[in-house]
Amino acid sequence: MNCCLRNALALLPLAAASLLVAQSPAELTIHADQRLHAVSPMLYGLMTEEINYSYDGGLYAEMVRNRTLRDEGWEQQDWTLLQNDKAGASMEMDPKSGPSAALTNSLKLEVKAASATEPVGVRNNGFWGYALRPNTAYSASLYARTDADGAGPLKVSLVNNQTGQSVASASIPAMGTAWKQYSVVLHTGAMTASANYHLELTVTHPGTLWMTLVSVFPPTYHGRANGNRIDLMEKMAAMHPQFLRFPGGNYLEGNHLADWYDWKKTIGPLVDRPTHPSPWNYHSSDGLGLLEFFEWCEDLHMKPVLAVYAGYSLAHEHIAPGRDLAPYVQDALDEIEYATGGPETKWGAERVRDGHPAPFAIPYVEIGNEDWFDKSGSYEGRFAQFYDALKAKYPAIELIATAPVKSRRPDVLDEHFYKSAEEFFADTHHYDTTDRKGPKIFVGEYATMEGSPTADFGAALGDAAWLTGLERNSDVVVMTSYAPMFVNVNPGGMQWHPDLIGYDGLNSYGSPSYYALAMFAGHLGQSVPQSTLSGAGARVFYSVTEDHAHVIVKLVNAAPQPQSLSIHLDGATAQGTAELLRLHADTTAATNSIAHPEAIVPVRSSMAVSGNTLQHTIPGYSVEVLEIPTR
Ligand code: AHR
Repeated sequence: MNCCLRNALALLPLAAASLLVAQSPAELTIHADQRLHAVSPMLYGLMTEEINYSYDGGLYAEMVRNRTLRDEGWEQQDWTLLQNDKAGASMEMDPKSGPSAALTNSLKLEVKAASATEPVGVRNNGFWGYALRPNTAYSASLYARTDADGAGPLKVSLVNNQTGQSVASASIPAMGTAWKQYSVVLHTGAMTASANYHLELTVTHPGTLWMTLVSVFPPTYHGRANGNRIDLMEKMAAMHPQFLRFPGGNYLEGNHLADWYDWKKTIGPLVDRPTHPSPWNYHSSDGLGLLEFFEWCEDLHMKPVLAVYAGYSLAHEHIAPGRDLAPYVQDALDEIEYATGGPETKWGAERVRDGHPAPFAIPYVEIGNEDWFDKSGSYEGRFAQFYDALKAKYPAIELIATAPVKSRRPDVLDEHFYKSAEEFFADTHHYDTTDRKGPKIFVGEYATMEGSPTADFGAALGDAAWLTGLERNSDVVVMTSYAPMFVNVNPGGMQWHPDLIGYDGLNSYGSPSYYALAMFAGHLGQSVPQSTLSGAGARVFYSVTEDHAHVIVKLVNAAPQPQSLSIHLDGATAQGTAELLRLHADTTAATNSIAHPEAIVPVRSSMAVSGNTLQHTIPGYSVEVLEIPTR
């Protein structure tokens, strides 16, 4: 028993009033001088893939939907003809006319009659509209060519859906008969921000015009050309992510073997990217391709966790290990060389040509995704073949298996958990007895399956409770990432729920789980000290980490009643100003939404502390981080 326990200071301002009967008082004893193990510095990261319009219509800031006409139904929903009754214009897909070997088709517009007062053209409806803001510059471009008559000039305009009024326009004076890229900048002036806009491309002379790769970009994060949405990048930055697992997920695998994530088709100029079908019911533009994933890591100071395709599809087809798999192993080697190689290497030189001279560092490569679904047993051989080739050339890269294997020892094993809050509450000791001599663990996907489109407060309680167990075991659990991260909340945007961050064209919001994760990742010590909790209700969960100057206590009260708690510090003394972050809701169904983005957000308070005992009450339905300064 610590001699200083009598030196108590109550954190009374933190107590919350409640009409419910309090749970019996609990005692949390922290032996700050008894270090159990170090905390993995990579513990909190992000997982991403093209799902729920995460990139196209999401993070990737491109505003033109179906810009290369690869998605089916392009003429019904994405592109429409603009003409008056007498113009006799027509629009069709020309399958044999395109600007490159990758983009072989284009939109053919035939104009029989048009004038300055009767322009004719096409309209793109965008991803649930074009979300425009006042006094903003939009970079527009397209590939175009005309017949010998010419059809220019071409007017590019952003137009209000209801009034038909243009709020920004520019003209391309003349176009030639050979394919060429044309660029203009569209400036909005004073206006109300709204997604109620579309794009118009119009001509005032008869003629025939072919066009494709039509593009409109708003300002992007760090001003990158072909870049990302600013608000979503900022939301991720606020999660303090240490790594990004990419490109998927199911998106890595594809529905069938032919649909695999063929990274070589996602690099270089956009006009040389053929695009590809993704497993989530829409075509991927691949505008956010392999290099852009690495640049995303660079922008947010995250380490890349690169998943390489390992010869398995969602339809449970596999490529046999051996000669059949060899080209895919070579592709993975090329992929790593593309990211990490110097200019003297074939693929490193390609990256330099693509505009990124500096190599990227890759600490982890994951072989496949969820290969535990492969009941043929082929993963054993597939993993071994990748392992041998990758370790031979890149011995410092840690290799992640996605299912247990016997013939090689993976450095890390990726495990996924999609559960109810109740199941997570019951499973917080999941890794307590894991063999510390085996592979490290990457919880590469997890989510409490409650809430739609985004996780609700009950899910946040489940996720936070589960994370206390992962922090406590962060000697063996080296990385964690929630999935899926993004959802476009417009009608038809969601293929999977719940998700962490929701958005439409203009706005975005974090779910309660988002805030719980950001709180946890933003307050993480370097080691886990010995601690015990006694007398707490069955739905109270905690973890403790510490650094040289703080003890950081995470508390989850998933019961509706408050929980009073005596926190005893042994081997350290509280002194200074403690910070408390609290995420609370009155019900588990409470949530954030695009209409009410900040219904549930962390509330910060602070108080002077000194001594070895702190009295604290955790309100019902709360997630808390208490950072106690120590000496
Ligand atoms: O996160 C959604 C999907 O769940 C991922 O694509 C896949 O890896 C898992 O089955």
